[in-house]
Amino acid sequence: MNITMIGSGYVGLVSGACLADSGNNVICADVDKEKIAMLNSGKVPIFEPGLDEVIARNIKEKRISFSMDIDYAVKNSDVIFIAVGTPMSQTGEADLTYVFNAAKMIAKSMNGYKLIVDKSTVPVGTAQKVKEIISKNTKHEFDVASNPEFLKEGSAIEDFAKPDRVVIGVDSKKASQILHDIYEPFLRTFHPLIVMDVRSAEMTTYAANCFLATKISFINEISNLCEKAQADINLVREGIGADKRIGYEFLFPGVGYGGSCFPKDVLALIHTGKSFGYKTKLLEAVDEVNEEQKSVLVNKVLEHFQKENIEGALDGFTFCVWGLSFKPRTDDMRQAPSLVIIDRLIKLGACVQAFDPVAEESAKSILGNYNGKLVYASSQYEACKNADALLLITEWSEFRKISFETLRQTMKGKVIFDGRNIYRPKNVRQEGFVYYGMGTL
Ligand SMILES: NC(=O)c1ccc[n+]([C@@H]2O[C@H](COP(=O)([O-])OP(=O)(O)OC[C@H]3O[C@@H](n4cnc5c(N)ncnc54)[C@H](O)[C@@H]3O)[C@@H](O)[C@H]2O)c1
Repeated sequence: MNITMIGSGYVGLVSGACLADSGNNVICADVDKEKIAMLNSGKVPIFEPGLDEVIARNIKEKRISFSMDIDYAVKNSDVIFIAVGTPMSQTGEADLTYVFNAAKMIAKSMNGYKLIVDKSTVPVGTAQKVKEIISKNTKHEFDVASNPEFLKEGSAIEDFAKPDRVVIGVDSKKASQILHDIYEPFLRTFHPLIVMDVRSAEMTTYAANCFLATKISFINEISNLCEKAQADINLVREGIGADKRIGYEFLFPGVGYGGSCFPKDVLALIHTGKSFGYKTKLLEAVDEVNEEQKSVLVNKVLEHFQKENIEGALDGFTFCVWGLSFKPRTDDMRQAPSLVIIDRLIKLGACVQAFDPVAEESAKSILGNYNGKLVYASSQYEACKNADALLLITEWSEFRKISFETLRQTMKGKVIFDGRNIYRPKNVRQEGFVYYGMGTL
């Protein structure tokens, strides 16, 4: 099948590469000149484990190409996926400008029947609007389907190639058959292809992401309560996760969720609720808990050093920060809790020495260097040099096994604030450090 991806970001590139790998001819199109130039010179613009290899293999087999020429891409494809960004607008709802622009561009280039598939996360009713835009701009036949994407950055290739389920929202047999043919190679392990109406499919993406965000805010709330009540969240987690109805997954206390999906999707669903005159009380609380959670680690810092929460309170202090990306195995800094934590530390007067295995460049483009108060170290231990304390923000696996001897030699202070509970409190204390976890004793 000839397929075009409109939008070659995390979703478009991974989906395009995997669809090429299963034998389709794929054009990954984008309006970003630099991105396409990079891809055409053999470089992958994002960090995603395994993506380089899949792309290289399919370039060699001539099954994948990259282009800014949307007109050419549309004319030469039967199926066109829209995988552009749907960022949060200033009022919190999903900004659909890129989706609607893509729809217009597709319509103007159509030269026969096309199946247009919304892969971007979009509110209920968007496919209908896309349909209206396309109808106004073409005389050719077409279908619009919804195909929510559930891949996770950091394991995106695996998630796309072996999905737990594929959801498609369709209103024609033809669209259903085409999508069935496209996804058949990925469903050999009998994971289901769930077919539904378009509006329900659109709602499914938000419901999935908001449920996961709810689990995170729930465990963070219980974790904060554990601290007050002198209980240990690690034990509580063990105790509740054994119940199959609850499970262990996605129940890790931390510094709040971030990334390009959960924060914006929770707010977008709250707005969808409002547009139907329905107040989504639970989701509002999920967002509120998450926003507050990003302050917890710095509050612990202030408490430990017995400082007030006022400008200049941390003047003269240097903190080492391990991990910048919103989660391990990605360079994505969108809505990363580290942004809030570093900003607050510096506003309180401190200097920050940060290290991330891959996200340094994307962090620099957002955070800069705060007039020299933020420096990026070339290794995790260099970031610790003369630091008063270490703050672990993203649980990259290289931070799990550490040399306390090196830390003792390089750090000025002996304090660790573990924002992800990756260390055993007892071990850290035995090594002579003061340890603070999230909701632990
Ligand atoms: N990143 C994830 O983990 C993830 C997972 C599931 C779903 N989603 C959803 O998928 C969508 C895309 O997310 P992403 O993270 O890949 O975004 P992204 O910002 O990484 O990529 C979007 C790309 O679309 C391009 N673009 C914008 N307008 C265009 C146009 N008219 N024509 C061609 N290209 C255009 C941009 O230049 C950019 O490269 C969003 O709706 C997101 O919510 C993301």
